[in-house]
Amino acid sequence: MFRILHTRQLSDAVFEMGVEAPTIARKVRAGQFLMLRVGAGGERIPLTFSDWSAEEGWVRFIFMRVGKTTHALSHMAPGDSLADLVGPLGNPTHAGGLGRVAVVGGGVGAAVAYPVARAMVEAGDDVTAILGARNAGLLVLEDEFRAMGVKLEVVTDDGSAGRKALVTAPLKELCEAGAIDHAFAVGPAIMMRFCADTTAEFGVPTTVSLNPIMVDGTGMCGSCRVTVGGKTRFGCVDGPDFDGHAVDFAELMSRQRIYAEEERVSAAAYEEECTCRPKE
Ligand SMILES: Cc1cc2nc3c(=O)[nH]c(=O)nc-3n(C[C@H](O)[C@H](O)[C@H](O)COP(=O)(O)OP(=O)(O)OC[C@H]3O[C@@H](n4cnc5c(N)ncnc54)[C@H](O)[C@@H]3O)c2cc1C
Ligand code: FES
Repeated sequence: MFRILHTRQLSDAVFEMGVEAPTIARKVRAGQFLMLRVGAGGERIPLTFSDWSAEEGWVRFIFMRVGKTTHALSHMAPGDSLADLVGPLGNPTHAGGLGRVAVVGGGVGAAVAYPVARAMVEAGDDVTAILGARNAGLLVLEDEFRAMGVKLEVVTDDGSAGRKALVTAPLKELCEAGAIDHAFAVGPAIMMRFCADTTAEFGVPTTVSLNPIMVDGTGMCGSCRVTVGGKTRFGCVDGPDFDGHAVDFAELMSRQRIYAEEERVSAAAYEEECTCRPKE
């Protein structure tokens, strides 16, 4: 069992959680992820480490409440325990020697972009962060990025915070100005696809952090298959970072929808059963 030490609501649907996990905290590096189960009979879901302390023995992650498991997670409190927490999984993100890097975080992707940007800064890269969200209520970690001291551009689809634009607008401007040597993008698959299309025009190498459906997270089940450069790769053990110009995004997005009906039924059943808050 893994004891919850800290919870914080970052926006309407986004939450941060800190968990006691000293062995894991000693090994984590930016870009890696964990698999957790809320209860003994529950499903395993992957989430990226957003922060950790080897000295104090804790790890943190940030999640968006989208379906059954993340709803259940959002109702847990300090003192409660998670049934399982496995990690660190996946390969760390490459940092250092990249030069001028645009780090793009879309929506809850900011949770992944944050430790990645921090690792790049620590490794001597010159980071410009681009944070995007549908609206101000979904924007997370802006203060943390500012505190890091990187150049920061905030955009929202509706203009309720920062500039009214998609993340690809400032990304394209940086490319046009010849101001970046590399891009790193994490967020919804469609956003990563358009970021990769934008930088491809300028020949700027681009890393994307993919989020295929994962079941075991250790290379055994094959559910996280992605096609990169015409070859089959596993998101969990070969990734999660890949060359954005070589990823087959159309296939990734269609595979992400495979269990849509089961997820809908499961979320509806959870809503029906859940007694942890008043019914609306
Ligand atoms: C390597 C990796 C890192 C991730 N990091 C984060 C993170 O830091 N923060 C965050 O909010 N989300 C992250 N995700 C996505 C997160 O795993 C899903 O949002 C979560 O599993 C949803 O579960 P649910 O039961 O609440 O929703 P469901 O109703 O089950 O699903 C809603 C949507 O979530 C996605 N999803 C569901 N199950 C999985 C699964 N097992 N693997 C991948 N995607 C799934 C699907 O796109 C699905 O349509 C990450 C995914 C991967 C693969
Ligand atoms: S999640 Fe099973 S092989 Fe990657």
